[in-house]
Amino acid sequence: MAINLSAEQRQVGQDNFARVTDGLTRRRFMRGLAVAAGAAIPAGAAYYFGYKSMDGKPVKAALIGGGDEGGVLVGEHNPEFLEFIAVCDIRPFNLDIKPGQKHGGRIFDGDPKVQLRKGFRKVYGTKANNIKPYRKVEDMLRENPDIEAVVIATPLVTHAPIAIQCMKFGQQRGKPIHVLTEKLMARTIKDCKEMITVAKETGSVLSVGHQRHYSLLYAHALDVVEAGVLGEIKHISALWHRNFSWPEHGEKDGPKLAEIPGALAELHDGWSPPILEMDYNELKNSLKDYGYKDIYELIRWRLYERTGGGLMAELGSHQLDACSIFLGHVHPISVQGVGMHSFFGTTGTDDRRPNPREIDDGIFLTFEFPGRNHPNGANKGNDKSDTVVVTYSSVSNNGFEKYGECVTGSRGTMVVEEEKSVYLFPENAPGKKGDARGTSIGVTTTAGKPALDSGGTWGPSASAAAPGGAPAGAGGPPPSRGYREEMEDFAYCVRSWDPKIGYATTSDGSFVQRLPRCHGKVAMADAIIALTANIAMKTRQRIEFKHDWFEPEKKDAVPEAMV
Ligand SMILES: NC(=O)c1ccc[n+]([C@@H]2O[C@H](COP(=O)([O-])OP(=O)(O)OC[C@H]3O[C@@H](n4cnc5c(N)ncnc54)[C@H](O)[C@@H]3O)[C@@H](O)[C@H]2O)c1
Repeated sequence: MAINLSAEQRQVGQDNFARVTDGLTRRRFMRGLAVAAGAAIPAGAAYYFGYKSMDGKPVKAALIGGGDEGGVLVGEHNPEFLEFIAVCDIRPFNLDIKPGQKHGGRIFDGDPKVQLRKGFRKVYGTKANNIKPYRKVEDMLRENPDIEAVVIATPLVTHAPIAIQCMKFGQQRGKPIHVLTEKLMARTIKDCKEMITVAKETGSVLSVGHQRHYSLLYAHALDVVEAGVLGEIKHISALWHRNFSWPEHGEKDGPKLAEIPGALAELHDGWSPPILEMDYNELKNSLKDYGYKDIYELIRWRLYERTGGGLMAELGSHQLDACSIFLGHVHPISVQGVGMHSFFGTTGTDDRRPNPREIDDGIFLTFEFPGRNHPNGANKGNDKSDTVVVTYSSVSNNGFEKYGECVTGSRGTMVVEEEKSVYLFPENAPGKKGDARGTSIGVTTTAGKPALDSGGTWGPSASAAAPGGAPAGAGGPPPSRGYREEMEDFAYCVRSWDPKIGYATTSDGSFVQRLPRCHGKVAMADAIIALTANIAMKTRQRIEFKHDWFEPEKKDAVPEAMV
C-alpha cells in the first residue's frame, strides 16, 4: 500500500502515528475521566471495547467449519471466554483424527513437526481429546445440550441456513443457541434480513466476524480521523492485490489428489485448492445432502457465483467496512465499477488461461460516501456537496502492492498497511519546504482544536508505545487483528444476555442491552456494500444505495431485486 516509502520514512510515519494517538488518548482520557496528567492509561481491548472477564464461566461453544479460517479462529480464541466442546465439518481432511497421518485431521493436529494449523491441542493440551467431532450440525446439537453458542466458518452460501438452523434448534429446546458467523454475513441481503429476524424471534445473540471492528489499531486510526487532525477528508483509496498466476500442479509431499472422471488437469492456486482423494471418495455420493452441486463447489466455493461473492465479498468487504467506519459508520451514496474476467479462464480448456473460475479476477470500484456535513453524514449537516470518494481495487495477477487503506486529508495522510502498521504524515504548510514523509510530528492545539504539528506537545517526544500492542518501530509482535477480541466480546455478550429483553429498543432506537459491536444490522450494511458493488460491475451501471435496504424490517427492499 505504501510502495514509495523508504524504511526511514516508514519509521517516521509509524512514530508519528504512535505519538499522535498517544497524545489524543491522554487528552481524551484526562477530559473524560478527570485523571491527573501523567496518570497511567488503562490499556487493552477489554477496557477499550467495554467488555469484562467471564469470572471462570466460559461460554461452551461448537465450531462449525474447520478449514482455513476455522483454524485461525481456533488458534486465536481465548478459552477463558469461549470453550470449544465440539467441532463439525463434512470434509475428512479438515476433521478426522487419523493418528500418524500427516495431513489429515489438521484441526486436531498437535504434532509440531506437521502442524498445519494452530490446533485445539495447543490451547487445551490433552483435554483436546474431549472435543467431540461431528459430520452433521443437527447430530452435534442434539447430542450436546451444553452447547450455548456456535462459531460458523463455512462457505458463504451456508452461513444463513446453518445460523438459522442453530438458532431455531435453540428455541425448540428452550435454551438459545447464540451465533458468531464469519463474514460476509450471507450470500443475499434477503438471507441477512432473515437471520436478523430469526435472532430476534429466538432470543439469540447474532454476531458477524468483521474483525476490524475489534482491532485496536483501527480503533486508534479512527481516533485520528475523528480528532480532525487530517483536515478535510475527500478521498480514501483501498486495495488488496495478490498474484495467483503461477498455478501449482499437485503437492510434493501432500495427500493424494482425487482422480475425478472427466476432470481437468489438477491445477490450483490460493483460491482453487487441490481436490483430495480422501474428501472426494467420502463425499461424492452425499454432497447434495449438504447442498453442494459437486466437490468443486464445496472445496473451491470462492470461485462460484452461487457459493461465494467474489473478491468484493472476500476482501473488499473488510476494507469498505474500514472506510465506512472512518467516515462515521455511514452508508455509501452510490457505486460504479468494472469487473474483469480476463486473466483466468472460465472453462479451463484454454491452456493460456488456466484455473477456471466464474468470479471476476480483477475489480475496480468507485464509491461515493457522504462527508461529515452531508445530510446522510455523521454530523447530519445540510451540505449536499460534502462527499467523499472511496476507490477500491483487488486483482489476482499482481502482488507488487499488497493491501491496505490510505486516508488523504487536507492536513495529513494516514496509511493503514496489512492490518498491522499505520503511517501518519503531515501536509506541508505553505512556504514550508522539505519532505513531508520525513517530518516528525506530534499533536498540539490550534484555535482550540487538535492539529498535527512538528512541535506537538501533547505526547511524549520520544517514541511512544505503538497502539495495538506493538512497540513503536520494528521488532515487536504484530498487533492483534481483532479475531481474539471479536470472540471475547461475543462471549461476554452471551454471558450477560437476557433473552427476555432480546433486541428491545429504547425510545431513541438504541438497544436496551449490550450487543456485539458487529451485530446483524451492522454486518448487513457491509454485505449490502459488497453485493451491490457486484451488481454494479455485472450490469455496468451506477447504482444508488437505497435507505430501505439497510432496514432489516423492510424484507422486500433488497439490492438483488434489481437483477
Ligand atoms: N474474517 C476473515 O478475515 C476471514 C478470512 C478467511 C475466511 N473467512 C471466512 O470464513 C469462512 C470459511 O472460509 P475458509 O477459508 O475457512 O474456507 P474453507 O473452504 O477452508 O473451509 C470451510 C470448511 O467448511 C466446511 N463445510 C462446508 N459446508 C459445511 C457444512 N454444511 N457443515 C459443516 N461443515 C461444512 C468445509 O468442509 C470446510 O472444511 C468463509 O465465510 C470466509 O469468507 C474470513
